[in-house]
Amino acid sequence: MPDFAQKLVLWQRRHGRHGLPWQGTRDPYRIWLSEIMLQQTQVAAVIPYYQRFLERFPDVGALAGASEDEVLRLWSGLGYYARGRNLLRAAREVAQAGRFPDTYEQIHALPGVGPSTAAAIAAFAFGRRAAILDGNVKRVLARRFGIEGEKAQWALAQKLLPARAIGTYTQALMDLGATVCTRTRPACERCPVAGECVARREDRIDELPAARKRNPLPLKHATWLVLLHQGSVLLERRPSTGIWGGLWAFPELISGLAEVFCRKVLGGEVKQALRLPEIEHGFTHFKLRVRPIRCTVRKILPRAEAPGRIWLDLDDAIRAAVPAPVKKLLLELRGRN
Ligand code: ADE
Repeated sequence: MPDFAQKLVLWQRRHGRHGLPWQGTRDPYRIWLSEIMLQQTQVAAVIPYYQRFLERFPDVGALAGASEDEVLRLWSGLGYYARGRNLLRAAREVAQAGRFPDTYEQIHALPGVGPSTAAAIAAFAFGRRAAILDGNVKRVLARRFGIEGEKAQWALAQKLLPARAIGTYTQALMDLGATVCTRTRPACERCPVAGECVARREDRIDELPAARKRNPLPLKHATWLVLLHQGSVLLERRPSTGIWGGLWAFPELISGLAEVFCRKVLGGEVKQALRLPEIEHGFTHFKLRVRPIRCTVRKILPRAEAPGRIWLDLDDAIRAAVPAPVKKLLLELRGRN
């Protein structure tokens, strides 16, 4: 086994993470679910979602039979909802095929599964020899070998793969990046490859990996209409494309007066409109600043019952497939009532 892999595997056995809920199984469904949830999301945030999801959908057949709305409801608050929508599509493909794919290529062909995720699933579930390269691993390789750049790092990651213990090695890379070779103030005294580390030898820990130049995120604005009528709130399903596709959210005021929009478009006769404090929500590529307007509705007109619109009790709305800032606003409304 190459020296790097050897050291990582030995380190993982003694010092890596072992009690995570998706470890200790080779069930590809459970491993796949965890790897999707762990994309761009921290372990601590994932654990409760993972457990609730598995309780409701213990196997791929159960998931394949679910509605998108129910999947998104369980995903509510986890973010990057395309993951949830793709998960359901993939589950239906797997159920149709009658078995979970067991090669890297076939796993990679599933919706929502990129190269690194496919490799992790193939390694953990089937012991396949495939290279991962997520953000943490990029940092480990950049520091240990002084090599940066997508192409060079993929080649390096391939070259470093051991012939056996691939699951332990893959977990070791992840764990080293998450618990030792952290972005700021890495714990080099606990690192099994500190002796050969280029960043350490050349005193370049803070420069490797090189910070990407980031332009400030663009700021987008929206006005949300919070229509309340006898303890119920009006939600609208967002069109299936876009970041919140398929989720329920407050209707957006596109232009004009809230009162007029409510009557003409949403079918509610507004008694009182009141501005609520602004909310900010960060996405990967932009920042959203929302100005919510709370409208007490005196009378609901028939238009309000259009498809894709629903009046829900505050309690039901809070449990629906809503994005995090919508849920936060709903919780505040319930607290105030
Ligand atoms: N991040 C991505 N996959 C992971 C895993 N299997 N364990 C811990 N963190 C992860």
